[in-house]
Amino acid sequence: MHVRAPALIPDHPSFQTAAVKWVRHWNEHLFSFAIERPASFRFRSGEFVMIGLPGEGDRPVMRAYSIASPAWAEELEFLSIKVPDGPLTARLQAVRPGDQIYLAKKPTGTLVCDALLGGSRLWLLSTGTGLAPFLSLVHDPEVYQRFGQVILVHGVRRVSDLAWRHALTAQLADDPLVRDQALLQLHYLPSVTREPFHTSGRITDLIADGRLFAHPVRGTAGFDPALDRVMLCGSTAMIRDAAALLEAAGLAEGSNANPGHYVLERAFVG
Ligand code: A2P
Repeated sequence: MHVRAPALIPDHPSFQTAAVKWVRHWNEHLFSFAIERPASFRFRSGEFVMIGLPGEGDRPVMRAYSIASPAWAEELEFLSIKVPDGPLTARLQAVRPGDQIYLAKKPTGTLVCDALLGGSRLWLLSTGTGLAPFLSLVHDPEVYQRFGQVILVHGVRRVSDLAWRHALTAQLADDPLVRDQALLQLHYLPSVTREPFHTSGRITDLIADGRLFAHPVRGTAGFDPALDRVMLCGSTAMIRDAAALLEAAGLAEGSNANPGHYVLERAFVG
């Protein structure tokens, strides 16, 4: 067996170091990994944090990553694209268990329950690695207490980009904190745009032609500011176009200071 010493990195005054626990490659473009959670690290489900690796001189290369684990998890999971010559991901994709990475001390973000008013349907609309904060939220009991139905939509180019597609339901069924609520309240809707799949088309197409609202989703076939709350995370183009549809339906953007009908965050892109 080939044994490789873990890659250790120099201490940095602004960042803590944390060891990689596991890595899972979905395809040549996408991977998940988790690091140990430092005892002092606190966050709300849905937030993001800067992570990175040493760069030139003493300036690490840091990027914002949504945390895919719920707020009480013992590890911090992330979902990342692989960019062959990307300043961070070219090296990050090679990490192995035991290797260290940098982690900023303070997480932040708007894809949190606190930034939304209560409602009966919560739509989690993501493309690509924008799925990550929603993986955190669907494991959080608060989400099921505050919203009647939770609809998790993941739009991707290829079937193999559907990270956690098969494992998600099994993971939730094994999670004593949320399994009963998830079974009754959560609906997972993957959609693929560049390969054949049972659901195909962009999220904005599913909204426009009404497929987003089809059975088993309950309620009106359209967004209603009195009932619907939406979180958007993914590509800049998807967020722009989906937010325009939400605004046209009368939904207003919220923030931590001013909770509203929908919130958004761009996923890390390179
Ligand atoms: P498409 O294949 O039609 O471009 P990307 O990998 O480029 O971030 O895309 C991830 C997913 O987001 C793809 O399925 C892509 O569809 C979709 N997408 C890209 N632009 C938009 C948009 N403006 N609105 C909705 N979905 C989009």
